[in-house]
Amino acid sequence: MTTIVELPIFDDRPWALPTPIFRIGTPPLKSQGIKTKLIPFIAQSINWRPGRGSRWIEPFLGTGVVALNIAPPNALLSDINPHVVSVLRSIQAGVITPESAHQVLAKMGDLLSANGESYYYEIRHRFNEEGDPMDFMFLNRASFNGIIRFSKKSGFNTPFGHRPERFRPAFLTKVANQVAWAQGQMAGKNWEFTVCDWRDSVATAVEGDFVYLDPPYVGRNADYFSQWSDAEAVALAKEVPRTEAGFALSMWLENEHRKNDHIEKWWPETDLRLASHFYHVGASESQRKPMTEALAIRRGFATSGLDTFVTGRSLRDRMADASTHSSPIDEQAG
Ligand SMILES: C[S@@+](CC[C@H](N)C(=O)[O-])C[C@H]1O[C@@H](n2cnc3c(N)ncnc32)[C@H](O)[C@@H]1O
Repeated sequence: MTTIVELPIFDDRPWALPTPIFRIGTPPLKSQGIKTKLIPFIAQSINWRPGRGSRWIEPFLGTGVVALNIAPPNALLSDINPHVVSVLRSIQAGVITPESAHQVLAKMGDLLSANGESYYYEIRHRFNEEGDPMDFMFLNRASFNGIIRFSKKSGFNTPFGHRPERFRPAFLTKVANQVAWAQGQMAGKNWEFTVCDWRDSVATAVEGDFVYLDPPYVGRNADYFSQWSDAEAVALAKEVPRTEAGFALSMWLENEHRKNDHIEKWWPETDLRLASHFYHVGASESQRKPMTEALAIRRGFATSGLDTFVTGRSLRDRMADASTHSSPIDEQAG
């Protein structure tokens, strides 16, 4: 007689990076600089095996797309913009659920469809008075191109996107699924959300932690919360390596017009990994423009591979290597 012994399948390897991401999840908030398409590149480039309680620290959280996809067991997730933090915190606390998002946005969508842009501006006014995260989700989806733009004086000031019929059943299901996905990614994890300047979250980083940095681009000051100067960029470059934690900085390196020498100049003790992708400046295919994105990773925390480039060599040499070895990425996600 043959006895069949069923062997249990153990997969108790502790969570670590690099990790393959088979399906990129989309968070409930959109933004223009969202890192969606770079997720596999980030997840494959970082080498980090956290000890018990070691945290993924993300001081420039934005939509949260990186943390949500990487899904570390422990994290400190912060941003200076209280509204982006508030949406994710509300999902974590169960205040926003897939069902409530579906229900509330359906109602708001009906009113938008009946009243057009005056309803959008009514909600924008209400949001700027009260700061309700569900109103922010509505505005984020009903506004022009999902641009998150605040001014010091008037608060959220992105104009209406002129799509009054946007909140149709399929769209509502999509948004509810994004909330469900975010909820699932956070479930059972020890994630702390805070609203603070990057200095405050970086100051808590200790050996064993990993700090992922995606600061605003210098010179693009349309958003009050994303005021970012050369001085801030340099302060970040000086402060972060003083910690004992691992770190990686995301930054564009080259587009068809310009090269960015910030990494070369201010993050010299890092390993550089490059990925090329395309972004659209208009609707037609001919307006696809190449862009090289870099991850400057603290030595000892980058995965090895052909496309690891050690800074210190001339930028031109590394760019030449990048064109042969960089990871292709389709296009910028919206
Ligand atoms: C490029 S976005 C991050 C995008 C994010 N990785 C994503 O994919 O959605 C930069 C973020 O930095 C935040 N920020 C700007 N200045 C900051 C500061 N001094 N401290 C903390 N966060 C700041 C902005 O509010 C914005 O959300």
